[in-house]
Amino acid sequence: MTYDDAIKALSSDALKFVKDGYTVGFGSGRAATTLVKSLSKLIKLKGYSIRGVPTSLQIKLIAEKEGIQLVEADQVEHIDVVFDGADQIDSQKYVIKGGGGALLRENILFSLAKKVVVMADKTKFVKNFTRTVPVEIHPLARNAVTQSIKKLGGDTQIRSLDRGYPFFTENGNIILDCDFGTIKNPKGLTEKIKQTPGVLESGIFLRKPDVIYKAKENGKFEIL
Ligand code: A5P
Repeated sequence: MTYDDAIKALSSDALKFVKDGYTVGFGSGRAATTLVKSLSKLIKLKGYSIRGVPTSLQIKLIAEKEGIQLVEADQVEHIDVVFDGADQIDSQKYVIKGGGGALLRENILFSLAKKVVVMADKTKFVKNFTRTVPVEIHPLARNAVTQSIKKLGGDTQIRSLDRGYPFFTENGNIILDCDFGTIKNPKGLTEKIKQTPGVLESGIFLRKPDVIYKAKENGKFEIL
């Protein structure tokens, strides 16, 4: 049994939050992919009418292949439930997102959601955040934001692809991966990060999930 088995099992369990007629938000990454595949089976089995809202081309392609009807975030007034993975979850239940670069669209979906369900394996759970915080910025703001992050005690690195080319988000922006060491006040830090013009999104989301699934290595899971 592995974490993947646990993610599969909890994805089936999480479908209890979906009702016929719902608009459902899809985060990006492996956990979201597993959820979309489970949801597709449910839709076919029960004949549900579901609209999916994707946060990236990655998940859009999966959902399309699974035959799920899709709409974009700007075509809906609200989203009944959003399912997403996370890069780290702290003991206050804040999440870090953006490892795959989809943070801006993911946070837009969080803001539209009546319910947010986050699914992650045990290795992502920490007392205080320790990993880098992805910050999506306009490319022309890179020096301004680098300086302001430095004043907040962070070291920045422009995210790049294998051969050194900068990584561009689907919104045409770049990402600064910011190392703050251990983060004890995620809310305060995020509020400060967002003050600099040119910052489009911080990977620490202020909207906490309503439901968190923790996948264990024995293939089982728990709900927090
Ligand atoms: C995408 O930008 C991220 O926020 C992902 O949701 C996050 O990296 C979790 O992905 P996995 O489910 O693949 O670990």
